[in-house]
Amino acid sequence: MRTQVVIVGAGPAGLLLAHLLRLEGVHAVVLETRHREHVLGRIRAGVLEPGTVEVLREAGLGTRLDRVGLEHQGFSLRFDGTEHRIALSGLTGKPITVYGQQEVVRDLLDAAEPEPCFGVSDVALHDVTTDRPSVTFTDTDGVRRTLHCDVIAGCDGFHGVSRNVVPATRFERTFPHSWLGILAKSAPAHDELVYAHHERGFALHSMRSPELTRLYLQVEPGERLEDWPDERIWDELATRLGAPCEPGPVVEKGITAMRAHVAEPMRHGRLFLAGDAAHIVPPTGAKGLNLAVADVRLLSRALTALLLHGEEGDALSYSDIRLRGAWRAERFSTEMTELLHRSADPFEQRLSLARLRRIASSAAAATALAQDYVGISEDA
Ligand code: FAD
Ligand code: DHB
Repeated sequence: MRTQVVIVGAGPAGLLLAHLLRLEGVHAVVLETRHREHVLGRIRAGVLEPGTVEVLREAGLGTRLDRVGLEHQGFSLRFDGTEHRIALSGLTGKPITVYGQQEVVRDLLDAAEPEPCFGVSDVALHDVTTDRPSVTFTDTDGVRRTLHCDVIAGCDGFHGVSRNVVPATRFERTFPHSWLGILAKSAPAHDELVYAHHERGFALHSMRSPELTRLYLQVEPGERLEDWPDERIWDELATRLGAPCEPGPVVEKGITAMRAHVAEPMRHGRLFLAGDAAHIVPPTGAKGLNLAVADVRLLSRALTALLLHGEEGDALSYSDIRLRGAWRAERFSTEMTELLHRSADPFEQRLSLARLRRIASSAAAATALAQDYVGISEDA
């Protein structure tokens, strides 16, 4: 079998890349180890930058997003027992849109043509430094198959195979916190997102719809879900957010470790990395998905120029340009993490509060935060 681009991974990066390439007339096949229901059911990010919304609209994926996405003109910081609103639209002229990652994935799967190959196993990449790379895998009937191609896009996340094929220098940081996240069938207690810095730890109030609330709590690394019955979670949220949330049935619950990771370079021969395969940011500030979209927007342009017109320029500069974007997001997400989480170090605790008070009292500091929040992933 032969195609122009093999895309490894059907997360948002891989699915959007396949969609953008198809619009340009480039043929791609997407390989995914999980089944369709698993990919559709994964609850993750929820905040889209205006640049991300624009990419999705331009790609014809805006219908449901424009109907049910929630446009927010600001968010709140809660600390010292008070609330300070960051007026995103007032400070930057731009809003953010709350629309779940799984909704983006659903829109992409509805539009996908051909459908990704779900449930494959033993994916392996070959000859990536030649003009004729290939990918082997086992299909759902247990048959070993080979796909010959011009280019491979590694969009298979942090646990995939692609990033290990690139002889990259890895930059990593593990944060001394984890996030306990729940999705609950209850009306959001606030109209906007609330990021709370509290002596018991960070808490975040977010949402997915007028009936679905998304909430996060900072917990110690290694904590177990069994130790967090729903009642304890609701009590802790009320304490840290300074107001009770409307408890409702918890439909999803999970603990995620916080880490940062960047692989340099993001390209090896005819293999290009995009999204979490290339970089992971700590989740505070919601940049992961936006960064993946910015990667594949540039990658689709670069591959179209390379494969349809024989122009190599954008493919050659892809890694450098997107690494700059990745480090912009690492810088912002790390700062947001340190600003809002409770450190065990008393010096750090006081620094966080001093930084928060500065944002609340300085228009320049609030504007800088707002600018990063609405647009860190765009190419400068
Ligand atoms: P992924 O979404 O990870 O997709 C990679 C795909 O590749 C998956 O479908 C996987 O099954 C598949 N795959 C893996 N190995 C192989 C293989 N060998 N062959 C074929 N396919 C393979 N970001 C935020 O902004 N806010 C959040 O609250 C937030 N929460 C998160 C919670 C969790 C548990 C995780 C893991 C991430 C979270 N993120 C969050 C980050 C955000 O979801 C990611 O940045 C985003 O999913 C990146 O998309 P991606 O397509 O690059 O990778
Ligand atoms: C969400 C996640 C984030 O990391 C964040 O900073 C804001 C919102 C969310 O899942 O809704």
